[in-house]
Amino acid sequence: MRLNGEVALVTGGASGLGRAIVDRYVAEGARVAVLDRSSAGLAKLKADHGDAVVGIEGDVRFLDSHKQAVARCVETFGKLDCLVGNAGVWDYMAQLVDLADDRIEAAFDEMFSINVKGYLLAAKAALPALYKSKGRVIFTASNAAFYTSGGGPLYTASKHAVVGLIKQLAYEWGPYIRVNGIAPGGIVGADLRGLEALGLQDQSISTLSLPDMLNHVLPTGEVATAEQYAGAYVFFATRAETVPLTGSILDFNGGWGVRGLIDANLGAELEKHFCEQAVRREPA
Ligand SMILES: NC(=O)c1ccc[n+]([C@@H]2O[C@H](COP(=O)([O-])OP(=O)(O)OC[C@H]3O[C@@H](n4cnc5c(N)ncnc54)[C@H](O)[C@@H]3O)[C@@H](O)[C@H]2O)c1
Repeated sequence: MRLNGEVALVTGGASGLGRAIVDRYVAEGARVAVLDRSSAGLAKLKADHGDAVVGIEGDVRFLDSHKQAVARCVETFGKLDCLVGNAGVWDYMAQLVDLADDRIEAAFDEMFSINVKGYLLAAKAALPALYKSKGRVIFTASNAAFYTSGGGPLYTASKHAVVGLIKQLAYEWGPYIRVNGIAPGGIVGADLRGLEALGLQDQSISTLSLPDMLNHVLPTGEVATAEQYAGAYVFFATRAETVPLTGSILDFNGGWGVRGLIDANLGAELEKHFCEQAVRREPA
């Protein structure tokens, strides 16, 4: 149990990746506070984990929600060791040309308020408790923090901004608080929603078949599940097993970054080579 005695606060921990992080943290011995706007998701968390979790219903766009979450966390568990900024929304790859004049300002504000301001305010509210515990911050970025086409310009810009936030806070808070990030690719099993300003709030990424869309273009050949990503959040949270890292971002791009210019038929050469050998090794 690598997080025995540790206390974490996870935003957006009631669903998808955040929920997998909470499950894994609890399994590793941590107690976890969760700030989320889904009362049903929070109730489910409580039913599944009992006293190991405390849910705070609130909206990450507001500093007061974060202050309440930190206060409840410290009141309930006595401290805060690790803040995970994770709540986010997507733009369903809406391209600039398709963003209507009467929606674009609200869409930008909503995207940045949740995906960027939501992390900044979480860090601001958690700072006194994290300074006391010499704690950690982990922000969920995305492939869209480094590459195009993981979203439209709104999502891509918001996740690039998360990279800046990680680096700047790592600089400002070292050596007292470590600030790192995880950049997941597509996540099987998540429920990522769209922007209300674009009428996409009820659209869930779970309706897209990410393995069908991505497996054939990824050198790993496999889109990861939320549970598979959760281990990386343990890595950055644990005090015992990591080297002193800050300002780093684990870029889980499924090998996207080494795919090369040619749209290769991934794995075909290996299959050809080993199949031929297997044929040649057949006894006469
Ligand atoms: N799903 C993917 O394929 C994918 C890929 C890369 C990165 N990400 C990132 O992973 C993170 C988690 O997304 P997910 O896919 O697990 O989505 P999800 O919808 O399954 O979970 C997000 C949680 O955040 C909560 N939330 C959203 N807006 C909120 C707000 N304003 N205030 C409070 N809570 C709010 C939701 O209620 C939900 O419980 C996001 O930052 C997302 O950008 C997701």
